[in-house]
Amino acid sequence: MEDRTGQVVEAEAAAVLGFDPGDPAFRADPYAHYRRLAAGGRRLHRTDVGLRVTTSYDLCEQVLRDPQFGHRPEGGGLWRESRARNRSFLTMDPPDHTRLRRLVSKAFTPRLVERLRPRVEALVDELLDGVSGDVDLIATLAYPLPVIVISEMLGVPAQDRDLFKGWSDSLARGLDPDFLLPEDEIEQREKAREEFAAYFRDLAAQRRVRPQEDLLSALVSVSDGGDVLSEEELLATCVLLLVAGHETTVNLIGNGALALLRNPAQLELFRRRPENVQAAVEELLRYDPPVQLTLRAALEDVDLNGTFVERGKLVLLLTGAANRDPAVFEDSDRLDLTRYSDGRDTPRHLSFGHGIHFCLGAPLARLEGQVALKKLFERDVALADAGDLVYRDNLVLRGLRDLPVTIRA
Ligand code: HEM
Repeated sequence: MEDRTGQVVEAEAAAVLGFDPGDPAFRADPYAHYRRLAAGGRRLHRTDVGLRVTTSYDLCEQVLRDPQFGHRPEGGGLWRESRARNRSFLTMDPPDHTRLRRLVSKAFTPRLVERLRPRVEALVDELLDGVSGDVDLIATLAYPLPVIVISEMLGVPAQDRDLFKGWSDSLARGLDPDFLLPEDEIEQREKAREEFAAYFRDLAAQRRVRPQEDLLSALVSVSDGGDVLSEEELLATCVLLLVAGHETTVNLIGNGALALLRNPAQLELFRRRPENVQAAVEELLRYDPPVQLTLRAALEDVDLNGTFVERGKLVLLLTGAANRDPAVFEDSDRLDLTRYSDGRDTPRHLSFGHGIHFCLGAPLARLEGQVALKKLFERDVALADAGDLVYRDNLVLRGLRDLPVTIRA
């Protein structure tokens, strides 16, 4: 439709999804909506247009593990055919996914990430150094930290980093499925993606000639039994890593800080037991996850626990709801920073996904979240009263536009 506006799409989205993702009440507290959806007891819902939706932990896990579900049923998929050139392995199925993920994993290793710890610590100190009074925590810490880290990791020179600011907003919706986006947003996103790719094409050419100690040089030269990344695969991977680096960890830090500030007893525990920071961040990831959902399509006709799902039909997995499934998590709406402490056998949250697409950047995101929140709350921080908090306009990602706080030096 030529005259599609954002509003029309929101209305359509509500029909597709069975809820209106643009509704401020939903944005403020999606969990209340999830609870209502789950209250009927049915584990698999069907919206007016036939989309299947689930809030169940077991069902989300099951679909994410099941090779009968994926991204690309024959004759279509979640993303448009014409955009295929730009597709990263996030939205591919085996065997393409397997091959690319294996190649990229060889360059992006947990060891490489752990080596970054001192740099992440220094960056957090730098960003917080001398900061006092009323500040926006997103702009001060949550956004710049992951952007600088992923840029440095890839080998983007510091003076070029600002180039990304303009592109980043358009790419923020890059994780939302095309069928929920207005045409102009898709166009903007594709343009940003192409500009990003062009930028990396030049940088990659430089690294081929003169490799450096960075991830881009590693990706350029990575090989697996003679197999290498093609130019297009390399560029799509760089864009994926940059989008993931820009748009997700910011929300772990933002949502995590907000959850602690709203739960003073838990914040006190967080400060008193810094050695528990790993477990605390896992609980923050479970409690208010940066990525709220994912989608899969049936690659063939599937019998999903007695419900027939026709080939090509989509299942919306509300992993943000699954993380609070009362059948799996005790007192699931409560923030409990000891839930993942040693000796407690809490099931894993689904915030980094599950199965073959499990987040490749999880070790990096965890490292940044742990260091940022620990160092932030070594300071005296309070929530500033700035009216209602506003969330960014996004379906898959959940994150604040800004988070006003007062930091006392
Ligand atoms: C707190 C921060 C993050 C969260 C919550 C998160 C969450 C996720 C989730 C849920 C998926 C799976 C999506 C699906 O199955 O549909 C995923 C995949 C992925 N993430 Fe992350 N992510 C985070 C940070 C990062 C970072 C920092 C990077 C890298 C710089 C990254 C790189 C990736 C990649 C490459 C994939 C695709 C894996 C595959 O398809 O095999 N993520 N992430």
